[in-house]
Amino acid sequence: MIPYGAILSSYLVAAVLFILSLGGLSHQKTSRRGNLYGMIGMALAVGATALLILGKVQFPEGLAENLRGILLDDPTTATVFAAAIGIGALTGSILAARVAMTSMPEMVAILHSFVGLAAVLVGISTYLGSGILVPEGGELVHNIEIYLAVFIGAITFTGSVLAFLKLRGSVSGKPITLPGRHLLNLLMVVACVYLSIGFVTAEGHTAVQPLLWMTLIACVIGFHMVAAIGGADMPVVVSMLNSYSGWAAAAAGFMLKNDLLIVTGALVGSSGAILSYIMCRAMNRSFISVILGGFGTDGGGGGGTAAARDHGEVTTFDVDEAVEALREASEIIIVPGYGMAVAQAQHSLSQMVDFLKEKGKTVRFGIHPVAGRLPGHMNVLLAEANVDYNIVLEMDEINDDFAATDLVLVIGANDIVNPDALEDPTSPIAGMPVLEVWKSETVVVMKRSMGTGYAGVQNPLFFKDNSRMLFGDAKEVVDQLMTGLRSH
Ligand code: TAP
Repeated sequence: MIPYGAILSSYLVAAVLFILSLGGLSHQKTSRRGNLYGMIGMALAVGATALLILGKVQFPEGLAENLRGILLDDPTTATVFAAAIGIGALTGSILAARVAMTSMPEMVAILHSFVGLAAVLVGISTYLGSGILVPEGGELVHNIEIYLAVFIGAITFTGSVLAFLKLRGSVSGKPITLPGRHLLNLLMVVACVYLSIGFVTAEGHTAVQPLLWMTLIACVIGFHMVAAIGGADMPVVVSMLNSYSGWAAAAAGFMLKNDLLIVTGALVGSSGAILSYIMCRAMNRSFISVILGGFGTDGGGGGGTAAARDHGEVTTFDVDEAVEALREASEIIIVPGYGMAVAQAQHSLSQMVDFLKEKGKTVRFGIHPVAGRLPGHMNVLLAEANVDYNIVLEMDEINDDFAATDLVLVIGANDIVNPDALEDPTSPIAGMPVLEVWKSETVVVMKRSMGTGYAGVQNPLFFKDNSRMLFGDAKEVVDQLMTGLRSH
């Protein structure tokens, strides 16, 4: 038998490891260590909880009675519990190993839906069952905790399922904006508040109906809220749902009197909220306007085909001309985007950068905060290809340097270098800060066609006098450039 104190100490160590994990993940140099801390913390938390509920723990006097209801000392339930953890761990590992980096946002969205669903199911079963012994006089607070966990969990669940379907392209990325939708949302929230009064004041476990009605309404709120949000705002929605899933877990932690769940939920909730704020700032959008939805009416969400405005003719480069431009330039900035991820061009690119640096050129990367399809997408790919992170600069650090740059290589990026974001107030991406690549002497844009990017809008950059289109798959073209550079 393990003393109860050891379980509490493991929870404390796990909480500290989660904090160290978040700290580590904030920088490329320490991110591997951060991930490792997170994995050890989670293994410790799951292991300690398993021992606790399987009845392998020696409780102090009095506490055993309180925790009676959550113990699975019956061998059949214990087997079911072990099988559930085993199947979950196996499925998670297989999916995580298989998922392409470009599909990561979908995976994150569906995982958030599980957290939401878990909070709903645990909340309802906690109310119906007698798992947690509530101290005398604590019924009201306990009921509020249950109600909040189920409410936030239900919103997170349906919102995340819809976000998953939108990100996969299974449903359209276009915002569905019902007339009077804000009023509708308000009415639904008021209904949930009204139902909460009957629920929290009810004696015993008699108010199942208001709880179930609220669950249904909260499910509709989550669905309706995400339905109103357009493709261009989906990154913020995913991180907002991440935050909600954290708050749902924290509320469940209060409900289950589990300190570790409270700490973990609060960490996820607040880091998701901070990330949403950072992304809103990167897109020059207010958080409230994102949540209220209706933005990005031009669709987007996976490469639109919006009709091109007449911008004139584009000028193209062939590989030899691009090689010549690279040989002549001494200050080079590379701007990667989603297309680099699709083509998996980062390794070839890393070799080309090493080669150019050996030739005495200054080569740096300019990274937009929402380049690709998930936060830090480009940084992860470049780190994977061993690109020195000292030459990988954030948009704010590099945007003033374009005017003094000889050559910019835009590799599979589109929206993040679209001048319309700054110049056309009617553009769906108006106001989003972009990398001002057109200020450099020459811009070479590498992509396969004149197709649009995520926001589904045409890009006037391609038609500028100093722009040259180099068509082809990003990896193939970089390989050809490398062959050309070596042959000189
Ligand atoms: P996009 O605007 O999506 O443009 C990517 C471009 O890559 C496309 O125009 C496409 O043109 C090209 N491409 C695709 N496959 C290629 C390949 N194999 N080789 C070469 N080019 C290829 O990407 P971006 O500039 O990185 O901007 C990101 C967008 O995604 C923003 O609108 C952002 O709001 C949104 N978003 C971001 C996130 C996060 S958190 N980062 C999450 C969801 C959405 P062709 O088809 O002509 O090749």
